[in-house]
Amino acid sequence: MSDYKPFKTILTGGMALLLAVFIFSGCSSSKNHTANDDAADQVYVPPGKHDEFYSFMSGGWTGNISVYGIPSGRHLYTIPVFSQDPTDGYGYTEETKALLNTSHGFIPWGDTHHVEPSKTDGLYDGRWVFVNDRNTPRLARINLKEFRTDETLEIPNTAGNHAASFTSSNSEYVSAMSEYSIPLPKPLGNGTDVAIDSYAENFKGMCTMVKVDQKTGHLNVDFQIELPPFDYDLGRFGLGESKDWVFYTDYNSEEAHTMLEVNASQNDKDFVLAINWKKAAKIAHQGKGQVVSAEYDHNVVNHKTGWAKTEVKKKVRVLQPSDLEGAIYFLPGPKSPHGINVSPQGKYISIGGKLSSTVTVYSLDNIRKAIANHDVSKTIDDIPVLSFKDVEKEQVKKAGLGPLHVEYDGKGYGYNSAFISSEIVKWSLKTGKVVDRHPTYYSIGHLTVPGGDTRKPYGKYLIGLNKITKDRYLPTGPEMFAGEQLFDITGDRMKLLLDFPVEGEPHNAAELPASLIDTAQVKYYDLDENHNPYVTRSESEAKVVRKGHRVDVYMTAIRSHFMPDNIEGIKIGDEVHFHVTNLEQEWDIPHGFAMMGMRNAGILLMPGETRSIVWNPTKKGVYPFYCTDFCSALHQEMQGYVRVSSKNSNVKIAYGTNKEL
Ligand code: CUA
Repeated sequence: MSDYKPFKTILTGGMALLLAVFIFSGCSSSKNHTANDDAADQVYVPPGKHDEFYSFMSGGWTGNISVYGIPSGRHLYTIPVFSQDPTDGYGYTEETKALLNTSHGFIPWGDTHHVEPSKTDGLYDGRWVFVNDRNTPRLARINLKEFRTDETLEIPNTAGNHAASFTSSNSEYVSAMSEYSIPLPKPLGNGTDVAIDSYAENFKGMCTMVKVDQKTGHLNVDFQIELPPFDYDLGRFGLGESKDWVFYTDYNSEEAHTMLEVNASQNDKDFVLAINWKKAAKIAHQGKGQVVSAEYDHNVVNHKTGWAKTEVKKKVRVLQPSDLEGAIYFLPGPKSPHGINVSPQGKYISIGGKLSSTVTVYSLDNIRKAIANHDVSKTIDDIPVLSFKDVEKEQVKKAGLGPLHVEYDGKGYGYNSAFISSEIVKWSLKTGKVVDRHPTYYSIGHLTVPGGDTRKPYGKYLIGLNKITKDRYLPTGPEMFAGEQLFDITGDRMKLLLDFPVEGEPHNAAELPASLIDTAQVKYYDLDENHNPYVTRSESEAKVVRKGHRVDVYMTAIRSHFMPDNIEGIKIGDEVHFHVTNLEQEWDIPHGFAMMGMRNAGILLMPGETRSIVWNPTKKGVYPFYCTDFCSALHQEMQGYVRVSSKNSNVKIAYGTNKEL
């Protein structure tokens, strides 16, 4: 058993007090911290064999998504999303730079939080995954044929985009919700430059409904709903019977704006916001609310050309709660709630009371009854508050200390993570009674069951996404990868199978069966279908063109040379655009391109693809370039030179391969 006691290190004053009155009655024992020998058989994927599931893990502060195989825990790939990634030049190449554009300018970094796969009829359909940037409010759509980001969309009038990117049963909408309220620009609010002390008066929360075009996947801000300045934390769309609803937890109903750890924990209860999104959309489409000016960037990849382009959007429709009669309610919830999760049939909604030891379960039937009976205790900013006793189904007691999230196995059980007591607790949806618990190492945040947010969870495994790693692996200095744990949940008791480290901080993850994705993969790009404006389809078309200070190099790469590989006539002050086309038409034969002294990343070109990178040489000399990917036995020979002369030199443009210049 490890020396590490999460209790000691994590507890703040308020939580310590809570712990003092909390008598922990779990059955965690030290024998559970390592797996049995037979676990090896369950996670062993023999060489050449594939995993059963893809796990898409948000990378947190890496700004990207990392992809792992389950059950092996093998790292398969990293998908660049909101952060530049030198692996393939994402965000460095001219083709991909626009994906990182925002109304604040080019932002090379993001903070990914919640990965949600697209769904059809409440089941994963393998088309896309969506993910949010919490820091600069954005959503992204990744296509699962290429494992590439196709689109990023900035969310206006909002901040702290934490409660995103939740998707409805048929991916009609992806929603994004403000965690941090902000003052809104006129004419909506009183203007953005206001005293922070005027928080309660001037700051607003914002719910954003982003429509998904079912054909193209394109995202579009359909409407927003202005909300009281609470901190909206997490959300989930309903499923089955509740599929027209979306639910969000919020804390800080105190509307505090400083020292939130104390000031936002004053009220005995916070809230769950329930919105009937179908009704709200109908009302929005009837023209209710106000269309206001806003500025936000929408960046989309054109698959014909391979270029992402930015469109600056200028308008957005904002509804007030008073516009949404019968479509928006507050449900009183546990104090400072965190996760909210909907059971597979959509009947039960579970909320982790992160400062308590219980999970609160609402029933959809009770919510419906309370709405039908107009059982409203009060209103907050025109939002009716339903009475707690009416909507609550039960409290799951002994759910560990600091319950955060719940996942369902589709067999009638919920599993909740408990951050402070570092454990997973399994309970029956029918009885609300705890039936099993297992320690985690350490301080678990999200947890995920493959398909756990669908109508039919695949069950079988559960992955604990632990926040703290400590002594689980060989130490790597002060920083370590986060540690995830894989459990077998096929039996009555959870069984620990595997620890595996992952990049960044996976706030959540989603597992899709490999069979939904693997056979649909793009293996290379057809050269004939490459409509990049700078494509070079054959070596005979390779050329170097000067137009004033701009030089365009149309270059090809094929095993094992570039055309051209010698270039002269470049001058200091030139802006040199290398457009490199990989002429290979075979899976997994990329070439790379890297130039000495180029203040930019190298690039990696997939077969049949063109990528462009800009170089501004500042010093005279002859500069070697080379292929970065070990593409053949003669990979080392795949190299060339560019001669850079002084500004006023009369060296003429000349180029070629295997030719005197
Ligand atoms: Cu091409 Cu190495």
